[in-house]
Amino acid sequence: MPLAAEDGTPIGALELCNKVVGPFEASDLKLLTLAAGQASRVIQLHRARADQAKSDRLASIGQMLSGVLHDLRTPMTIISGYAQLMSDCSDATERRQHCEHILRQFENMSSMTREVLAFARGESNLLVRKVYLQKFVEEIAAHLKQEFAGRSVVLDIDAEYRGTAFFDETKLLRVVHNLARNASQAMGSGGGTFRIVVREEAGEWLVFEFTDDGPGIPEELEGRLFEPFATSGKREGTGLGLAIVKKIVEEHGGTVTCETRRGPVHGTSFVVRLPRERAEAR
Ligand SMILES: Nc1ncnc2c1ncn2[C@@H]1O[C@H](COP(=O)(O)OP(=O)(O)OP(=O)(O)O)[C@@H](O)[C@H]1O
Ligand SMILES: [Mg+2]
Repeated sequence: MPLAAEDGTPIGALELCNKVVGPFEASDLKLLTLAAGQASRVIQLHRARADQAKSDRLASIGQMLSGVLHDLRTPMTIISGYAQLMSDCSDATERRQHCEHILRQFENMSSMTREVLAFARGESNLLVRKVYLQKFVEEIAAHLKQEFAGRSVVLDIDAEYRGTAFFDETKLLRVVHNLARNASQAMGSGGGTFRIVVREEAGEWLVFEFTDDGPGIPEELEGRLFEPFATSGKREGTGLGLAIVKKIVEEHGGTVTCETRRGPVHGTSFVVRLPRERAEAR
């Protein structure tokens, strides 16, 4: 008995062998026809689900790739900055330090590449480790010095909390870079102050506040600020930065909120809240 899809495409066959009592009869054929119909439907349904899962996965890989490509510009900019510093530097110790920064950026780039490949294999893409905030904040400061190079942005970091927390360091650095770049772009050529506060809340949450004194978020973005491709007032904005920020924070079981003021007293504040302990231990 052939098994066929709805459009008639053959997908298999059912065969009956060795009836115990007597020869095969018309009633056997009827039963076989019914069973073949059921089997064909189940096979088709299963194939359709497998196809859907595959295309969902491909779509997510596409989204993730665009996020990673977006953020690969950061380490590339930093590498080029340190390479330029090295070319004018005669002091061997200083050159070694620049070299270390460059190598660290290569690590970031390869961890971002690994992230996409791990996801394509169906593995989790969050590398949660114990982080010493004191060191992390120093790293942020060094990175943002590069990010703000040539712009009159004052960086003001207030690390009230200097203990430990669990998160994916490379991904959090991507969050910081995206928020810092937006702030510096919003403050424009006149510059301003970008302030970062790191604190602990109720012993449970690690809170980062990022505040700038730029002109505030354009009104037209209200309600869709964190959506992919929501961008305004930038010639080369893709609108992915804040969507990436939100995705990374939520992967950690955290939240990100934004407050903004336009007018005479203006500025924008993003607050990122992460569970301080490992998400799975909570
Ligand atoms: N600190 C800020 N001050 C004022 N406006 C901001 C600030 N941060 C974000 N915005 C506004 O929100 C929009 C979305 O930001 P997002 O980072 O998602 O995309 P983008 O910066 O336009 O492009 P991309 O980050 O992909 O290069 C920006 O275009 C900008 O108009
Ligand atoms: Mg941006």
